[in-house]
Amino acid sequence: MRMTKPDQFKHDCEQEIDAISRDANLRLATSDWVKFANLRKYSYHFEFLGRPIIQYPQDIVAMQELVWQVKPDLIIETGIAHGGSLVMSASMLALLDLCDGIESGSTIDPKKSKRKVLGIDIDIRPHNLTAIQDHPMASRIQMIQGSSIDPEVIAKAHKIAASYTRVLVCLDSNHTHAHVLAELHAYAPLVSVGSYCVVFDTIIEDLQAEMFPDRPWEPGNSPKTAVYEFLKTNRQFVIDANVQDKLLITVAPDGYLKRVS
Ligand SMILES: C[S@@+](CC[C@H](N)C(=O)[O-])C[C@H]1O[C@@H](n2cnc3c(N)ncnc32)[C@H](O)[C@@H]1O
Repeated sequence: MRMTKPDQFKHDCEQEIDAISRDANLRLATSDWVKFANLRKYSYHFEFLGRPIIQYPQDIVAMQELVWQVKPDLIIETGIAHGGSLVMSASMLALLDLCDGIESGSTIDPKKSKRKVLGIDIDIRPHNLTAIQDHPMASRIQMIQGSSIDPEVIAKAHKIAASYTRVLVCLDSNHTHAHVLAELHAYAPLVSVGSYCVVFDTIIEDLQAEMFPDRPWEPGNSPKTAVYEFLKTNRQFVIDANVQDKLLITVAPDGYLKRVS
């Protein structure tokens, strides 16, 4: 049977991505590129709707695809920094509301929308807090100041999440093995089936220790080692390799975890 044009395009893309993932030259070039870009603090130079976002543009696009696929009503993020990723998540939820409104023929008041972002950070700097609170997306953003692995903070997040049905989680705070593993145990259970727990900066495992002289994490003690440890005993999540195969350039190789049961 002949495929429709959209099906054919999708099929071609899948085959091309598969070929990309097996292209040793491209993988080597990517790995070199990431090493050199990291030395130049590449991920620090972007903004989302006016707020600095510490991500690669490729991962930003991947998050947009996941949000469209999952259509979450709550996104939980650990690690706020300047607020760029919170604003990005909030703006994508606003677009979901806009699309729902267009389909139903009614407008959803952003202040009354159920779709929200919850950000958690141990140190929300006053200038960042003010800028986030003054941002047009602020009505969708709730923040908790405290360590993401503090039992009180975890309990607050669980209480908030209890009134939502489709939850997506992003972990991007302290990148040590122990911290990320504790975050995975605390927040992964909140992820809805079919949704994702995205663990950022797993790339640390693939770089040289000398690149993190003043950090408590390094290869062997990284988000990726935490992911592998977590997956040893957790069958509800799998690594969605399609995301990284497509992106190639990502700070989250083996970090896009899909909840399958
Ligand atoms: C890489 S930045 C987050 C970047 C942000 N997600 C973005 O994309 O723009 C890491 C943040 O984690 C925060 N952090 C460090 N340790 C933490 C902890 N124990 N609990 C919560 N946040 C923590 C830092 O204060 C910092 O703001």
